[in-house]
Amino acid sequence: MSLEPVTLQQLPTDLISDLLPQHVAVIMDGNGRWAKNQGKPRIVGHQKGVDTLKDLLRCCKDWGIPALTAYAFSTENWGRPRGEVQFLMTLFERVLRRELQEMKEENVKIRFVGNLEDLPTSLRQEIDRSMEDTKNNQGTQFTVATNYGGRHEIIQACQAIAKKVEQGYLKANQVNEDLFEQHLYTQGIPHPDLLIRTSGEMRISNFLLWQVAYAEIYVTSTLWPDFDRTEFHKALATYQQRDRRFGKVKS
Ligand code: FPP
Repeated sequence: MSLEPVTLQQLPTDLISDLLPQHVAVIMDGNGRWAKNQGKPRIVGHQKGVDTLKDLLRCCKDWGIPALTAYAFSTENWGRPRGEVQFLMTLFERVLRRELQEMKEENVKIRFVGNLEDLPTSLRQEIDRSMEDTKNNQGTQFTVATNYGGRHEIIQACQAIAKKVEQGYLKANQVNEDLFEQHLYTQGIPHPDLLIRTSGEMRISNFLLWQVAYAEIYVTSTLWPDFDRTEFHKALATYQQRDRRFGKVKS
């Protein structure tokens, strides 16, 4: 694959704009290994990972991709060492506070999905503020999955629907895919067309289980902090070569 030796500010010419994914989701894996490779503590990898995410968000804007979703913290991540969890919570809060103005100026609409109630109060306040302040923005839709678990999301949707049936607002035979989706955290956000996972692991790791049903999956051995525009270009070029049939035969 030949890649242009430019800064990639604009959509690379080998990519077809009409065939770009409309929504890219990323599992940002490999921060710890990246830091270890440099002889640094794991948290340095997370810090660098923020810069990578920020540039990817801007790249989506530059290249005309309307939606990006990032898996920032899973329900399983609470099992990490206490210091690392605390660092991540503080990092999310600090990044939000620092970047909010710029996101507003760049017309980004940010939304957090997950079990947000269990997050530290000060982080929740920043999350609420960022969602409120950007809710009318029409630019890139940036979704951050925080304290997110796909199974938990599905269970809470089932419980909410069951409650409505129990209370007589709904009949069981009215439960269909559209209704179910309205009870997911991601309600109103289109499904990802492309799911990227860095650092080589071939797993979904409880991320957007319902929503990635027909997403194209791209796994790269590149560690998240090194996932730059050249790497994104490779992912998109691979995506554009895929034959998406959605279970049908080729027309
Ligand atoms: C996975 O790498 C990375 C994380 C669990 C955290 C990702 C979070 C960020 C990049 C910050 C995002 C910030 C905002 C505000 C959205 P790992 O630690 O599992 O790496 P390893 O597999 O090499 O140990």
